[in-house]
Amino acid sequence: MARFIDELRRTHRCGELRGTDIGKEVVLFGWVDTYRDHGGCVFIDLRDREGLTQLVFDPNHPPEGADVELVKQSHALADSMRNEWVIGIRGIVRSRGKNVNPKLPTGEIEIGVIEATVFNKAETPPFPITDDLTTKEEVRLQYRYLDLRRPKMQQIFKVRHQINQVTRRYFDENGFFELETPFMVKYTPGGARNFLVPSRLQPGSFYALAESPQLYKQLFMVAGFDRYFQIVKCFRDEGSRVDRHPEFTQIDVEMSFVSQDDIFNAMEGLIFRIWKEVLGIDLKEHYPSGHFPHMKFEESMRRFGNDKPDLRFEMEHTDLTELVIEQKGGGVPFFGEIAAKFESGKLRRDLPGEIVKAMRIPASAEFSRAEADKLEAYVKSMGAKGLARAKVAEDGSWTQSPLSKSASKEFVAAVNAATGAKTGDLLLFQFGREALVQTVMANLRVYLAKKLGLIPEIGHGGKFNFLWVVDPPLFELDDETGKWAAAHHAFTRPQEGSLEFLEKDPGKVLCYRYDLVLNGFEIGGGSIRLHDPEVQARVFRALGISEEDARAKFGFLLDALQRGAPPHGGIAIGMDRLTMLLSGTDSLRDVIPWPKSQKGTDLLTDAPTPVTNDQLAEVHIRIVAPENPG
Ligand code: AMO
Repeated sequence: MARFIDELRRTHRCGELRGTDIGKEVVLFGWVDTYRDHGGCVFIDLRDREGLTQLVFDPNHPPEGADVELVKQSHALADSMRNEWVIGIRGIVRSRGKNVNPKLPTGEIEIGVIEATVFNKAETPPFPITDDLTTKEEVRLQYRYLDLRRPKMQQIFKVRHQINQVTRRYFDENGFFELETPFMVKYTPGGARNFLVPSRLQPGSFYALAESPQLYKQLFMVAGFDRYFQIVKCFRDEGSRVDRHPEFTQIDVEMSFVSQDDIFNAMEGLIFRIWKEVLGIDLKEHYPSGHFPHMKFEESMRRFGNDKPDLRFEMEHTDLTELVIEQKGGGVPFFGEIAAKFESGKLRRDLPGEIVKAMRIPASAEFSRAEADKLEAYVKSMGAKGLARAKVAEDGSWTQSPLSKSASKEFVAAVNAATGAKTGDLLLFQFGREALVQTVMANLRVYLAKKLGLIPEIGHGGKFNFLWVVDPPLFELDDETGKWAAAHHAFTRPQEGSLEFLEKDPGKVLCYRYDLVLNGFEIGGGSIRLHDPEVQARVFRALGISEEDARAKFGFLLDALQRGAPPHGGIAIGMDRLTMLLSGTDSLRDVIPWPKSQKGTDLLTDAPTPVTNDQLAEVHIRIVAPENPG
């Protein structure tokens, strides 16, 4: 029987002991965090999940009543110990006296070690196990198990665990069933790009890895389960980015016999609980009604350029399209061209087309000309042709601008009034294709806010800003085909008030779809579903999907919806994004235990890897060499 673990059981974790424990005999296990030899006396900080405890191996001052021979042996052993060795000790808790470390929760005490063991030695780690690490991410991911040992990472995954537990408790208490759905599913077109899994038993056929449990959770409602939730992995074949990962987790929810507000209430309840139980923050102080504010999709696009505005700072956009049309371009040739397109009917105000937008940097930001020049490069990296700008002089005229020569006095005055521009302010303009202008201006707003220090730090002391973005259009015009396409998925319910436009003006149809936004991140999205076959047929017609097409794509869902489907709706919260914002980090890879690199590689195991021809033959696949290898 081994002395440690079998006979000497662990009594405490390394973050636990306090002044009130002085005099106790304890057994601790953990990793050597730091090692110091002070002339015959060895100090070791022992680390585990919960924190650090200082160990003292001192043969000249053995703990009272201890077997001096044992103390000497453990000192000799400690002499050989190095960082990241895994050890166990038995000793007595004593006061640090004058050497109290107020920064450590265990800083009042230390352990006078009597007996020690080495469970395992460790090679020198490729990077130190500390939070202030400058090591490249690739190296951290290659040795992820060491990276995860860092206190910051241990804290993040504790938060992740807590979110999971609170979520399960909350939904259980509120009558939701936790039910599972398959990962290997039928491929259905549209939506995110799927990972494909070849079938061995059915040559030439493939499963798709589920991008979400969407169809199955709707079928759960048809099956009569009423309220469902699942903390579930989803798979989308896209590169890993700051807020996207190919394998990510959703808190997925579906409810029967509900309105949009019922879904909001359920999710607000969850978020309030998570904030309270994980962060100790009462969101009621910020949202006394218990609800988050709503903003219409149209307003969000107009003021901020996207449907996930960060409302912790201002820097709003001003849409100048109407003004440009009214003033026939105000003397500026580029604007004149756009105005002419509207006049000739080539562009319509009620359809996506071309727009003109401006943003104002106040004089107080003291934004230099050189800094403004850099913005040009930034917007070009997003595909913009350039960034027109103008500085407002004392008399209101524009300087430092190619627009100043051509713009009429009235136009300059009107733009200054619309944007609220005053002496010394800098105006930035984007014009052209709507989608691009919106993206460029939305990103520019956030980029500038960061640069100007307008965004409060997220995390514990920071500000959390929630928003529901509601009432988006059901259809969007496909840039390439010029046809209407479903903006979300084809089973979103149109709002009753806009049903009349389904045939005559599809762009005007609003729907029951919603996104939950936190600090400029979309942390969740969902919709009330279309369960009524009549409206469904009209939506498909508007989309140009024939009954045959619809059958081929969604036949099983259409069948189910005709066999007693209750009205239903749901939402999915991006669990990784939520954890990221809750734990105050700025990369999704920090909150996924075993993440993929930006290129989708698992640097720890080297996946994906080639497989043998035999393995390929089993699944009826032959690799065709790329035409231009390398
Ligand atoms: P949606 O596609 O909007 O909706 O996804 C819901 C939420 O999941 C998160 N998310 C991601 N997080 C990390 N990496 C990704 N690649 C990624 N993609 C999405 C976002 C997003 O808000 N079935 C519908 C939900 C519904 O209608 O009920 C769905 O999946 O935070």
